[in-house]
Amino acid sequence: EKQGYKHFMLKEIYEQPESLKRLLEANLKDGSINLRQNGLNKDWLADYDKIHIVACGTAYHSGALAKYLLEDKLRIPVEVEVASEYRYRKPIVDSSTLMIVVSQSGETADTLAALRLAKKEGADVLALTNSRDSSIARESDMIIYLKAGPEIAVASTKAYTNMVAAFYLLLIDGMKQRSEIKQQTIKKYTSDLIKLPEMIRKLIDNSKAQIKLLAEKYALKDNIFFIGRNTDYTLALEGALKLKEISYIHAEAYPAGELKHGTLALIEKGIPVIALASRSDVFAKLFSNLEEVKARGAETLLITEAKQNFKEESIDHLIELPLLNQDFAGLLAIIPLQLLAYYTALECGEDIDQPRNLAKSVTVE
Ligand code: F6R
Repeated sequence: EKQGYKHFMLKEIYEQPESLKRLLEANLKDGSINLRQNGLNKDWLADYDKIHIVACGTAYHSGALAKYLLEDKLRIPVEVEVASEYRYRKPIVDSSTLMIVVSQSGETADTLAALRLAKKEGADVLALTNSRDSSIARESDMIIYLKAGPEIAVASTKAYTNMVAAFYLLLIDGMKQRSEIKQQTIKKYTSDLIKLPEMIRKLIDNSKAQIKLLAEKYALKDNIFFIGRNTDYTLALEGALKLKEISYIHAEAYPAGELKHGTLALIEKGIPVIALASRSDVFAKLFSNLEEVKARGAETLLITEAKQNFKEESIDHLIELPLLNQDFAGLLAIIPLQLLAYYTALECGEDIDQPRNLAKSVTVE
C-alpha cells in the first residue's frame, strides 16, 4: 500500500534510488556491466545497421533521450518514433534493423502493433519492459527487464527512470563493443552510473522544500514552458507531460533553439520558463535562450549543475544538481521535474494517482 505516503506517485518517486539500484545490480558482474544476467541472450549491437526505438508517452521520452546518446557514442543510426505514427506509415525496417520497444506495462496496443509490423519485415526486437508476462515480453527476441517493481500511479516515474537507466546500460555495453573507445572511459562510465541511486536519494531530500515553494507559484499559472537542448530537450518533454497530466496546467516543451521560430511570441511577463541544463556542452547556448525569455519578462527557473557560471540576473530560481557525467545527469535533472509536477498538482487539488481521462495501461488505440 501507500506506506504513509499521501499518494502512490510520491511513494514511487521516493522508491527510485532503490528500484534503480535493483536494475543496476541485476546487470553488473564484478563491477562491470553484464546484460546477459537479466534476459539479454543475444548480441544486440553487432548484427544490425540501424536501430528503431518505438514507444508511447513517457516510454517514448526515454527513447528520445537514448537516441542522442547511442548515436553520439556508438555511431549507429537511431530513429525514434511514437508507436501510433510508426505503425501507420511505411517505415524502412528489415532484417538489418534492431527495433527497441519500451513499455512499462508491456501491453500498450500501439507499441505491440509496431513490434509486430517490424517482426513481419524481418527485424529483431529488443524489449525494455517492466512486465515479464506481457504480450510485448512474449513476442520480443531479446528483453531487458526494468525491475522497477509495480507502478500504481498513472503518471510514470520510477519506470521512466529505469527505462533511461536500461538505455544507459545498453550504451555502456555498446561502448565495450567499439574498439575505438578506451577501457578507461568504459570504467569511468560504469562507476558514474553506479553513483546515481545515492545521488538521486540526496537530491530528492535536498530539493523538496524549494520545490514545494515553487509549486505554490506554478499552481496559479495557466501556461508553463520547458526548454532544453540535446538530452535536456527530452527531459523537457517528459517534465511538461508529467506536469500537464496531473496538474492540468498547459505545459509545452521546446528545443531551446526553436523558440525564436515561433514560440517566443507567447512569452510575456510572468510566464514561467523552466530551463533544463544537465549538459555542459550546450550550456552556453541554452543560457543565451534563457536570457532572451528573461528579457521578455518570463519568470525563469534554471536546473543545472552546481559548477556552471552564469549571469544571475537572468535567473529567478535555481535548482542545483550534483556533478556527474553529462550523459547520465539527465536522471538527476528529471527528479525536480517529477517533484514539481507532484507538488503543483497537490496545490491544485487534483486526483494525482488517477488523472481524469487517463488509464494506466492503454490496451486499445
Ligand atoms: C505518462 C505515462 C504514459 C505511458 C504510456 C506508455 O506518465 O505513464 O505516457 O508512458 O502510456 O505506457 P507503457 O510504458 O506501459 O507502454
